[in-house]
Amino acid sequence: MEKPTCIRGTRTLSHTLHLDRMRVSGLLRLSALLFTLVATWLFLRNSIGLSTKTIRLPRWLGVASKEIQVPKSKCGLSKPCPANFFAFKICSGAANVVGPSMCFENEILMSPVKNNVGRGLNVALVNGTTGRVMRMSSFDMYTGDPNLLLKFLAEITEGTLVLVASYDDPGTKINDDIRKLFTNLGSSYAKNLGFRDSWVFLGAKDLRSKSPFEQFLKNNPETNKYEGWPELLELEGCVPQKIF
Ligand SMILES: *[C@@H]1O[C@H](CO)[C@@H](O)[C@H](O)[C@H]1NC(C)=O
Repeated sequence: MEKPTCIRGTRTLSHTLHLDRMRVSGLLRLSALLFTLVATWLFLRNSIGLSTKTIRLPRWLGVASKEIQVPKSKCGLSKPCPANFFAFKICSGAANVVGPSMCFENEILMSPVKNNVGRGLNVALVNGTTGRVMRMSSFDMYTGDPNLLLKFLAEITEGTLVLVASYDDPGTKINDDIRKLFTNLGSSYAKNLGFRDSWVFLGAKDLRSKSPFEQFLKNNPETNKYEGWPELLELEGCVPQKIF
C-alpha cells in the first residue's frame, strides 16, 4: 500500500526546515565567533598599542570602512610623546586617603593597586637611557628614619631619572642633606618642603639646570582643598631619553 504522500511531504518539509534552522543557527554562531575574535583582536591591539593609532575596520565587517581615531597615549597623556622621549605621569597622594601613583612609558611603577606606595616620599629610579625601572621605594617621613632616604638618594648614579610623589606628610623628618640632594637633582621646591605639602617631581642625577617637571603646593589651612591637606598634584610630560 502506498504511503500517503502528504506525510512524506510533511516529513521532507520538516526535515528541510530543520536543516535550514541548523544552517541559520550555525551561521549565527559563526558570525558571533568571528565578531568576538575581531573585537578581541581590536581590543588587544588597542590596549597593547601604546600611542595614538588608526584602526581600519575590515570591509567585510559590513561597517562602512571608516578610520576611527583612538586617542590612547602612553600613561594616558593628552598628546603622545615624540620619538626618543619617555612619557610619564606622576600623581601625588590625596590627603591621607588615596595613595600616589607613577606611570613611566605606560608602565605603572608605583600605585595603591600595586601596593608599593606609602605615606611620606615615594621615589622611583629609572635608567634614563633604556627607560627601565631600577629601584622603587617608599620613605616614611613622619615617623621613619630619614637616613634611609638620604642613603637612597646619595647612591643615585649619573644618567638616572628620579620620580617623586608625596603622600600625606613628606616633610616632618626631612633634613638639609636630603633637601640638598633633591636640589641637585633639579628640584626648586625641595628646600621648602614641609609638613603635609603636596609635591610631585621628576629630576635627573646629572641635570645641570632646574627640572621643568615639578609641582608643589604648600599645606595652608586657608587654601587647603581638603581639611588638613592641599589638593593632590598631577604632573605629566615627555622627558628626553638620554642618548650617549
Ligand atoms: C642604563 O642602561 C645601560 C644599558 O644597560 C647601561 O649601560 C647604563 O649604565 C645604565 N645607566 C644607569 C644610570 O644605570
